[in-house]
Amino acid sequence: MTLRHETDVLVIGSGAAGLASAINLPSHVQVLVLSKEDMKAGSTNRAQGGIAAVTDENDSTESHFTDTLMAGAGLCDPAAVRFVVDRGATAVSDLISMGLQFDRHQSDLHRTKEGGHSHRRVLHVADATGRAIASTLIEEANRRSNIEFMNDRVAVDLISHQSDDAVKRVVGAYVYDPHSDRVECIRAKSVVLATGGASKVYVYTSNPDTCTGDGIAMAWRAGCRLSNMEFNQFHPTCLYHPDARSFLISEAVRGEGGKLRLPDGSTFMHRFDKRQELASRDIVARAIDYEIKRLGIECVYLDVTDLSKAHIEKQFPTILQHLLEIGIDMRVDPIPVVPAAHYTCGGVLVDHHGRTDLESLYAIGEVACTGVHGANRLASNSLLECLVYAKSAANHIAERLSSTPSFEADIKDWDESRVTNSDENIVLTHNWMELRRFMWDYVGIVRTDNRLERAANRINLLKREVHEFYSHYRINSDLIELRNLINVAEAIVRGAQWRKESRGLHYTLDYPDQLRAAKPSIQFPPDDPLDVLQPNVARV
Ligand code: FAD
Ligand code: SIN
Repeated sequence: MTLRHETDVLVIGSGAAGLASAINLPSHVQVLVLSKEDMKAGSTNRAQGGIAAVTDENDSTESHFTDTLMAGAGLCDPAAVRFVVDRGATAVSDLISMGLQFDRHQSDLHRTKEGGHSHRRVLHVADATGRAIASTLIEEANRRSNIEFMNDRVAVDLISHQSDDAVKRVVGAYVYDPHSDRVECIRAKSVVLATGGASKVYVYTSNPDTCTGDGIAMAWRAGCRLSNMEFNQFHPTCLYHPDARSFLISEAVRGEGGKLRLPDGSTFMHRFDKRQELASRDIVARAIDYEIKRLGIECVYLDVTDLSKAHIEKQFPTILQHLLEIGIDMRVDPIPVVPAAHYTCGGVLVDHHGRTDLESLYAIGEVACTGVHGANRLASNSLLECLVYAKSAANHIAERLSSTPSFEADIKDWDESRVTNSDENIVLTHNWMELRRFMWDYVGIVRTDNRLERAANRINLLKREVHEFYSHYRINSDLIELRNLINVAEAIVRGAQWRKESRGLHYTLDYPDQLRAAKPSIQFPPDDPLDVLQPNVARV
């Protein structure tokens, strides 16, 4: 018998998007926030640079709007960008009123600069802004008696119901508990997907292990459209060191004057863009990738040794400490860096309230495609987007909840009658590594038709194998994530194959030019059961 829970709003994910949506719901609404590991396991807690918002009278939302559109390479939805930048100052003051203390310079907020911004507008808490935001939101959520947390639970699939009027509504989710090794059922009037991005689909990434695109894959399988999946942002400067994987060196380091150098000490960014180190991320990442391949070197170097030691110590204490632990003193040594997958610009297509194609299902934060980021996200716009859309979604849910009827019909038990325990987990680990490796090699910073075709063929093979596995064996966290990553990889490749141009983060040698008309890619969920790797459970 499947263990069952019930709540008004199920929020899947406890990063900035999930927590902020829970906090913004009224106190009479019961909220259950789910997290795959502990509450701080997602990207939010790792965010370094800060949050972009206009808080200075010499800056303007018009300028933030224009910078965001410029970075987005013609593909941003201007209305969505306006929606977010106009709400930036309020999002920041909401955080401050919850107790967050941004760094200050004398009596004013301190603002740092990052690539693509024409003003200093990134508010930060040294180089650990995400940690401060996560702690503030968790403390605030803990003060609310209507919010409950369930950690160490992996949402497997959404449960949907099609009513007589053909409206498909989401009524809950199946959730795996790794401790009991059981699948539970959570019934809810509304479900918010706040599961973060999918950069773990690449072998080199700045992202934590939770970022396996679960929400994107679940929404797709349930029948939602995905948009702009081909736009994967590669951060130019992740630490290159055998003992320290996945550690980001914030863009703010370049914002404060850091220079990129080749092993011989020469600079190179002036050859690629007149903004040099502060060009937008796609340009800097591509330039580094080009130099690495041209010279056959393993990494380039980020050099801040011209900055005063006191400035480095004050503004980058976390990075400094982390580097010291592995024997690099950034006050005197250049930092070895390489690009790595960082941010999923595409995702579940939503409107200004985070509404998806399915009734009662919302998607906010990195899982969603709001139109704000277009073909390339402007630095530090993600946390802002999380907060603005979380509030908007919460308001929309609250307005609708009293008129949302409870779903009375039975939800079927998770069906394990046809599956057994696997003694072949090597299939999962092998496929997991293979997928992430070929995605890096074939669907990375520079793409070609041939490489995309190779990736698509391999994805088809993996899809069949994992489908087999999923149909015959009891699920575990690795299988859930691999199945999701395959759905995401397929959507990325399909989007990339559809786009016959180079734009923003999608760069292909076969179509190096940008087309005049900018069009988002939109993928419609397929009907073929194998295409969506159907769960081994019947729909309600
Ligand atoms: P996350 O914070 O990733 O949270 C996702 C949540 O969903 C987690 O709680 C996870 O456990 C849960 N989850 C996932 N799948 C499941 C499942 N199946 N079942 C249950 N729970 C699930 N952006 C900026 O704007 N400024 C920055 O300075 C900045 N720095 C960054 C630095 C790093 C190293 C990284 C990786 C990203 C950075 N970003 C930055 C991007 C930004 O941090 C993220 O885009 C943002 O935090 C995403 O928030 P989120 O709430 O959507 O997802
Ligand atoms: C960084 O600090 O470089 C990350 C900023 C971001 O991803 O927006």
